[in-house]
Amino acid sequence: MSDTTAQKDPFYITTAISYVNGSPHLGHAYEVILTDVMARYKRLDGHETYFLTGTDEHGEKVATTAEKNGMQPKDFCDKTAQEFVDMADTLNISNDDFIRTTETRHHTASQAIWKKIEENGDIYLGAYEGWYSVRDEAYFGEDELTTDENTGQKFAPGGAEVVWREEPSYFFKLSAYTDKLLALYEEHPEFIQPESRRNEIISFVKQGLRDLSISRTSFDWGIPVPGNDEHVMYVWLDALTNYITAIGYPDEDSDMFNTFWPADYHVIGKDIIRFHAIYWPAFLMAANLALPKTIFAHGFINVEGQKMSKSVGNVLSPAALMELFGLDGVRYILMREVPHGQDGNFSQEHAVQRVNSDLANGIGNLAQRTLSMIYKNCDETIPAPGTLTSDDEALLRKAREEMLPHLRKAFDNFQFNRGLEVIQSVVSEADAYIDAQAPWKLKKEDPERMKTVLSVLAEVIRCVAIAYQPVIPDSAAKVLDQLKIPADQRDYAHIHDDYALGSVAIDKPEGVFPRIVLEEEAA
Ligand code: MSP
Repeated sequence: MSDTTAQKDPFYITTAISYVNGSPHLGHAYEVILTDVMARYKRLDGHETYFLTGTDEHGEKVATTAEKNGMQPKDFCDKTAQEFVDMADTLNISNDDFIRTTETRHHTASQAIWKKIEENGDIYLGAYEGWYSVRDEAYFGEDELTTDENTGQKFAPGGAEVVWREEPSYFFKLSAYTDKLLALYEEHPEFIQPESRRNEIISFVKQGLRDLSISRTSFDWGIPVPGNDEHVMYVWLDALTNYITAIGYPDEDSDMFNTFWPADYHVIGKDIIRFHAIYWPAFLMAANLALPKTIFAHGFINVEGQKMSKSVGNVLSPAALMELFGLDGVRYILMREVPHGQDGNFSQEHAVQRVNSDLANGIGNLAQRTLSMIYKNCDETIPAPGTLTSDDEALLRKAREEMLPHLRKAFDNFQFNRGLEVIQSVVSEADAYIDAQAPWKLKKEDPERMKTVLSVLAEVIRCVAIAYQPVIPDSAAKVLDQLKIPADQRDYAHIHDDYALGSVAIDKPEGVFPRIVLEEEAA
């Protein structure tokens, strides 16, 4: 029997929360889709899943941008945060919550973690003197910077300008956590993924950590430090806390907190790994809280081989791409084209070929061909299978037994491109089978055999469409609707012969993936 009733561990996954100083772009879309695919997969695979995304609204960068736009910070945040909420809706993201750091619940949680760390003796008052990058909202040591010889301007490692800052500040005793963090990376090699990022962090921490400035006095757009209103909390301490705010912190006894903390994955981009793999576990240790299981750092999306940048003018909006590729087309390309943890390139020409070959000519064509033949030649009803040949059995075995273990192995490790190849290979085998069996010829020669062949194909399409759901939820649902699969029989446990298609009447089939034609091609 299948394992629909088996109890599986709850699963908590988060994205980074996006700064609201600009509009969402393809990089943000990539991260939230990547996380959504994992969340959908875990739900379909029987886990109680909680998926959080949101916006990071405090700090100097947002305050300055609001001012430049002639707006009060909160009004400015309301406006841009809405664009991120809308992006999640448009991309069919299945998040359970959307957190904004300007919400009261988040102020409460951030002040509570501050007090906890303070009680533990890890916060002291001092003065900060050093370099700060507003774009990164990060402090840098002199040794990490590069200098433009002509202007004397200094830059952070990621290329952002730094400015000299001197102000009173509370500090977190990060230096006391160097050994504890190194022990964590050693005992839990899975804590930082992929491996290359883990090595990068270990060598950084091995050099020794300086105490961290965790409050600012030169502006007030932030969460007040408990007991000293002159200071607002450093935006990263505030932002990282979002991951526990959403599940009820400071109420550590709540059901939500007990069920979902520690998080399984914080999914983030490679540029913010230090904050997540060094500061966050240190803050949590100082607040006597359990540590997340894995920080997964994905790569960056480049466009036509170049880094996206306003000055190059190649910043792609998710909405523009959706016009050409449709929602599932965009989701598919991003998951298929970006290898695990590495940078990926978006090229329009390649993306069109990919969607056409994998989706339009793949599952789209297979479903349309098969269902049309069934509709025309089998009384508009998926036939029950007759006697199966070894070829029929081999294809069914591939779809119902062999696909899922391979898929899980890939999906569990964020190797969605590999997982998609696994599904694609079943579609290719079904294509080879349809050509070899030639059901259109059997129509006259052996109608009973034709029915069996079509029933085998419909069953394979059922399994493939169930498997595709995390990545292309809308289109997979359309295929499953055409096969009349009830909503409660679409999770991964149903990729099993216990749930094989029976004889069922269908409607006139409609194509699910039209071929994409570029305008210049069409002209
Ligand atoms: N606010 C911080 C994160 C705080 S998390 C407690 C931040 N915001 S951001 O808006 O700059 O970035 C949000 C996420 O988008 C980050 O994980 C970042 O790495 C990711 N990306 C930004 N540009 C990207 C690409 N071009 N490609 C892929 N992801 C990129 O950092």
